[in-house]
Amino acid sequence: MKFTIEKVCGKARAARFSTDHGVVQTPIFMPVGTLGSVKGVFHNQLAEDIKAQIILGNTYHLYLRPGRETLEMAGGLHKFSAWDRPILTDSGGFQVFSLADCRKITEEGCRFSSHIDGSKHLFTPENVVDTQRIIGADIMMAFDECPPGTAEYKYAEKSLDLTNRWLERCFNQYEKSAPKYGHYQSLFPIVQGVTYPDLRVKSAEFVQQFGADGYAIGGLAVGEPAPMMYEMIEVVNGVLPEDKPRYLMGVGTPVNLLEAIERGVDMFDCVMPTRNGRNGMLFTSEGIINIRNEKWKNDFTPIDTAGVSFVDCTYTKAYLRHLSIAGEMLASQIASIHNLAFYLWLVGEARNQIICGTFAEWKTVMVEKLQRRL
Ligand code: GUN
Repeated sequence: MKFTIEKVCGKARAARFSTDHGVVQTPIFMPVGTLGSVKGVFHNQLAEDIKAQIILGNTYHLYLRPGRETLEMAGGLHKFSAWDRPILTDSGGFQVFSLADCRKITEEGCRFSSHIDGSKHLFTPENVVDTQRIIGADIMMAFDECPPGTAEYKYAEKSLDLTNRWLERCFNQYEKSAPKYGHYQSLFPIVQGVTYPDLRVKSAEFVQQFGADGYAIGGLAVGEPAPMMYEMIEVVNGVLPEDKPRYLMGVGTPVNLLEAIERGVDMFDCVMPTRNGRNGMLFTSEGIINIRNEKWKNDFTPIDTAGVSFVDCTYTKAYLRHLSIAGEMLASQIASIHNLAFYLWLVGEARNQIICGTFAEWKTVMVEKLQRRL
């Protein structure tokens, strides 16, 4: 996978990487398509209106439903879901710990009961790589343990050692196996270490021995305060190689994205724009709107006059509020399209500002605006 840095502004980077399903310009936000669909959004809207360049799928969910056999018979997730741009899959490490019941972590892997029917399963570093080969992700993630942000040092250290041993097994399996559908698949290691700088450094050093195409920072936005998260990003990016993409997993708010970009992060994913959108929260360049609020009842102005997606000037706030209060499906769709288009606009604009050398000034102004409640 080729990663080219086009411009650096402070520590922020404008870059691009290529996959066999297309080029991705960074900084980039990846909409979450857990089950092979970004909830409520058609692929043509994702590609054309939202300008998504890459989406994320979840190994845990896809393994349980529709399962490996169907995915393999379909020829992989790209064909199955009719999405021909890049896909990154999370390994299941995080989902198993947050969703499944009765989990038991051992050296071998993680035993869990499905959140759907209670059936019992085992994820190991090896079978998680195999499943991601079957899904056909352009970027596969290593199997890791993600401890809570409040974990004590002793636990964090033990957990990191296990994640590191699992990482070696992931790369062994990666080397032993081959892509199934003819396109190249990368494997990204995940840096862990909770909020302990020495563990983060140890982890960021350890992961480099595999010469991976890119690196992820995991275990953040899991209960630690935001300044602590920013400090950990700085520590880790101070150790990770500059010539590879850096992916901050599961983060976050628009402000989190700008703070992380300023610290040298290139890739993001988060359920926030879609999940919060479904609950009536809209992110805009002037601040946050709760569309269910009484104050929008008779506001017939467009959802977001500065917005870049077709929903922004097509529909009014009053109409969207009405749909949301009435529990109409279309409310979730409009809010998801708006929020995703806004996130993609935000990272695209960050990229433009990096290229122009004006990122720091622009970011200061944006951070203030993004935190307003409208
Ligand atoms: N998504 C958000 N955080 C994490 C993490 O630490 N590990 C994995 N695998 N996925 C994540």
